[in-house]
Amino acid sequence: MKNRPLLLIILYFLFFSNARIYANEPDSAYIFAYATEKNHHQNGLHFSWSIDKKTWFPIGPEFAFVKSDYSRWGTEKKMISPILHQSKDGNWHAVWTLNETDGTFAYAFSEDLVNWKPQSYPIITEGRNCLQTELSYTDGQYTISWISVDESDTAYYAVKTKDFKTYSKAKQITKSERLNQRESILVSNKQETGTIHHVPWMVIEGLEKKVALTSYRNQLFDEKTIDDPIRFADLKSLDVTLTIDIQNSKKISDKLLGIFFEDINYAADGGIYAELIRNRDFEFSSADYREWNAKTAWYVSGESSDVEFYIDTVNPIHPNNLHYAYLHLRKTEADITLVNEGWDGIVLEKGEKYDFSFFAAASTEKMKRFALIQLVGQDGKIIAEKPIKLDNEKWKKYTTVLTALDSAKDAILKIKLTEPGWYKFDMVSLFPQKTFKNRKNGLRADLAQTLADMKPQFVRFPGGCVAHGDGIGNIYHWKHTIGALEARKPQRNLWGYHQTAGLGYFEYFQFCEDIGAEPIPIVAAGVPCQNSAKHGCLIGGQQGGIPLDEMSNYIQDILDLVEWANGDPKTSKWAKMRADAGHPKPFNLKYIGVGNEDLISDVFEERFEMIFKALKEKYPEITIIGTAGPFSEGSDYVRGWEFATELDVPMLDEHYYQPPGWFIYNQDFYDRYDRNKAKVYLGEYAAHLPGRPNNIETALAEAIYLISCERNGDVVEMTSYAPLLAKEKYTQWNPDLIYFNNSEIKPTVGYYVQQLFGQNAGTEYIASYLDVETNNEKVRSRIACSVVKDAETNDIIIKLVNLLPAKTNVNINKLNPVYKEAIKIVLSGKPDGASACPVEDKVSLDEIQHLELPAYSFTVLRIK
Ligand code: AHR
Repeated sequence: MKNRPLLLIILYFLFFSNARIYANEPDSAYIFAYATEKNHHQNGLHFSWSIDKKTWFPIGPEFAFVKSDYSRWGTEKKMISPILHQSKDGNWHAVWTLNETDGTFAYAFSEDLVNWKPQSYPIITEGRNCLQTELSYTDGQYTISWISVDESDTAYYAVKTKDFKTYSKAKQITKSERLNQRESILVSNKQETGTIHHVPWMVIEGLEKKVALTSYRNQLFDEKTIDDPIRFADLKSLDVTLTIDIQNSKKISDKLLGIFFEDINYAADGGIYAELIRNRDFEFSSADYREWNAKTAWYVSGESSDVEFYIDTVNPIHPNNLHYAYLHLRKTEADITLVNEGWDGIVLEKGEKYDFSFFAAASTEKMKRFALIQLVGQDGKIIAEKPIKLDNEKWKKYTTVLTALDSAKDAILKIKLTEPGWYKFDMVSLFPQKTFKNRKNGLRADLAQTLADMKPQFVRFPGGCVAHGDGIGNIYHWKHTIGALEARKPQRNLWGYHQTAGLGYFEYFQFCEDIGAEPIPIVAAGVPCQNSAKHGCLIGGQQGGIPLDEMSNYIQDILDLVEWANGDPKTSKWAKMRADAGHPKPFNLKYIGVGNEDLISDVFEERFEMIFKALKEKYPEITIIGTAGPFSEGSDYVRGWEFATELDVPMLDEHYYQPPGWFIYNQDFYDRYDRNKAKVYLGEYAAHLPGRPNNIETALAEAIYLISCERNGDVVEMTSYAPLLAKEKYTQWNPDLIYFNNSEIKPTVGYYVQQLFGQNAGTEYIASYLDVETNNEKVRSRIACSVVKDAETNDIIIKLVNLLPAKTNVNINKLNPVYKEAIKIVLSGKPDGASACPVEDKVSLDEIQHLELPAYSFTVLRIK
């Protein structure tokens, strides 16, 4: 126990032993349950305790034992006037008001007041609010009553339930039928309103232990390198011995490192999707972003009296693509130009070819009707131009190839029109021919290559929240994203912009194949995001779910996805569509994720089970990945795992964004996992510091954690950092792995960590022991090592992280002399540094036997 602070010993007694610290505590006391108005009512359920109901002691103080999970983040997720009720079996039930508008309330259940089950929000009334809920039990039923207030009246209502799952119809009651259950007491000199309950002392002790454990953990997880000079003031250097037990190995996943692709931060349109025209479909609208409309990124130059330019929807090229540009030129000899600004300008490279296309229709009363297509630099210089003869009054697709005579970073597209008459344009498109692997409708070569360089073993798509959507109407449907571009269904991207679906399922599967990665498509589990806006659901409530009578169609869509990806074009309509798109061979889909960090509500469970059973029955060869909520602990995580175990789901998707300290002190997270339950897909994670940088501190915390995932590669099957891409100036979320603008790629230090793991993955984990010369847990936790073997090359790969401010000398035991030389790659820098790159060297075996790890570094040794 040398060097262990006294606090740890006290904590040991507090959490893990039944030994009492105080000898003379009462057998029972009172608790007071309440919520405050602070922080827009978002601070959750608090407790105070008292022996005599006169003097009250806040627990925490104001510790949140359960918080509301209803609706969006920001100023929602409110707990207003909670009522706590204990049933005869000792269990606890809480109901509370969510806001002043919705006809629903929250219900939560707990056995011990410390651990709470996922909440539910029964939809009770439409258009009337539920204020000051009360909860009571008589004759085998619970009654929840509330006050409903609007401009015209105040009325009282109640519903009955036996199980908090099904409720009777709301019935109007009289004021006198209300129980007035709330009491007002003085806590910390402030009058608070809530309910009082008589409980065994153990209950209060449990609450206090929870507070102490949380505060201990928070302190630990809050550890930041900025305090390292003080924390490690005595540490000049460290000696460690690494013993590799080459005979002792286990098989680990060969898919440990993959990528999470979501259209967030302009990752797809304006990002990796190589289309250079913004709003090519004239489908931008204020629903995407409040300042947008169908003309966004477009304008007409020339005399305004000569032209009428508006957006029309009569006879569109496809009902999924309703809006198009309509121009009417009135004057002969007018010089009118329809201009597109691209995504803040169009990048062109001298000598490169660009595929231009549009759908057009034009009046043909005169024979000679041309559209002159030009790419023009900011200085007015024409970089490329080609005329297109418009010869049809009906919609027709026209194409041409433009060759750039010069390079430009901010060119614009001009469609010059000179003849009077009317013109219609839609799906105006410009693609570099040089896309990744020269694919048509392909990906930006530089960005896609940066992803390929990570050697990811799988690609998750389309998210993230984009997969389950902001409300039922915003759920991502794979069928809307395949086939002819003009027939795809664009939609509002929940991150505040427009999604053309140009980068759809076909392009995604093609990319996976091009880089040798498994596709991991994620479909919604029949429920949208629990943080959806209210308008997203059926009638109020927040998560909602696809109506049960529509679920069979939805499930059929998921089954069709497998057919589309793997089926035989001769027998399957869906597989034929794949073949027609240019891929007759099956894509060999092996995994489908169902759900994305959902609230594990009854609504979710019912729909997930339906999808799971149907998929399993029809395609037993597909590995179905379930979901365990958005956090590494809490009600969704616990219930998510229970539920997956009940259904025997083979793999579960975990998500957590945590401070670096969490990753440092949770290296044993998966060591403790039951090997007989589902495998883990750590589908979203990242180390978050205040200000959300991606720097050496966060990157090394992630590296330390990935080392622990390699060690647990028998249970952790896959991992993917999130999010992946972010366009500068269009970023909704930080940190990300790769930042970019129209012409530059800026990989982060976190990217290099992922890349080093991807490029140096193993298939076998070899036991190794790090002998660190100190018992100081803080020091020991900052050094980590894994040794793996790659079956394909037989190389041994040693990964070492030194997250200490001092260098570490590693003595490695003698390796088999068959190994001759090694590649050493080191990524290091100051903790707040964000620009380091890995440095590679060839080293002899003798050199690596006495290795120096620089302060704050990640070292990979690839021994050949
Ligand atoms: O990675 C960004 C977002 O984080 C994802 O869309 C969502 O699943 C998570 O909350």
